Amino acid sequence: MESNTGRVFIMDHPLIQHKLSIIRDKNTGVKEFREMISEIATLIAYEATRNLPLEETTVETPISPAKCYHLAGKKLAIVPILRAGLGMVDGVLTLIPAAKVGHIGLYRDHETLKPVKYYCKLPSDISEREVFVVDPMLATGGSAVDAINFIKEEGAVKITLMNIIAAPEGIAAVQAAHPDVDIYCATVDEKLNENGYIIPGLGDAGDRIFGTK
Ligand code: PRP
Ligand code: URA
Repeated sequence: MESNTGRVFIMDHPLIQHKLSIIRDKNTGVKEFREMISEIATLIAYEATRNLPLEETTVETPISPAKCYHLAGKKLAIVPILRAGLGMVDGVLTLIPAAKVGHIGLYRDHETLKPVKYYCKLPSDISEREVFVVDPMLATGGSAVDAINFIKEEGAVKITLMNIIAAPEGIAAVQAAHPDVDIYCATVDEKLNENGYIIPGLGDAGDRIFGTK
């Protein structure tokens, strides 16, 4: 039966959970934090690309012909939400190196918690591409909802959201606004605090990736 909200896939793989414990730790330094964000992104991408279409092919092994499957050549795009989403791009490109990369710059107004757009540059053929939006944090969901709106306005129809830590509030917001979008994340945390930060979360992902605080 077709579901009328996007599905949420939580990656409880031991390697992801181990790396998550490192990025949550307030004593983890910038270098290791960045490395872990990238490695977790690779592991989440492995699962998020599970349904990419395949085509049958035949290759000659040294022994005999073998029926094989290769990717059907579907065009893909990765769209990080700046800044923190940038930390996930290389990790996803490790698995899908031919993907094009768009950028959407959004920051949350600290008073209203609403996202403010300051940059948007997407591949010109984004409407023909399957799009993976990446951002380590899904808090109120405002940034992800707006980013997906911009991408849909450009004509993209198949969009998947990849986060590392999601709050229930953010998941509900994305599901309400974009019921066609599946979410892949490493964990769903408890809730948001009064400043819109995820509890327990990992603090400000952008500041921790770029060492700006
Ligand atoms: C963070 C994070 C998300 C957003 C999530 O970015 O990377 O984009 O907050 O919050 P939301 O779900 O409530 O919208 P931030 O606004 O701190 O900007 P930065 O990455 O430039 O630091
Ligand atoms: N953005 C972050 O970087 N961290 C949070 O906990 C919430 C939004």
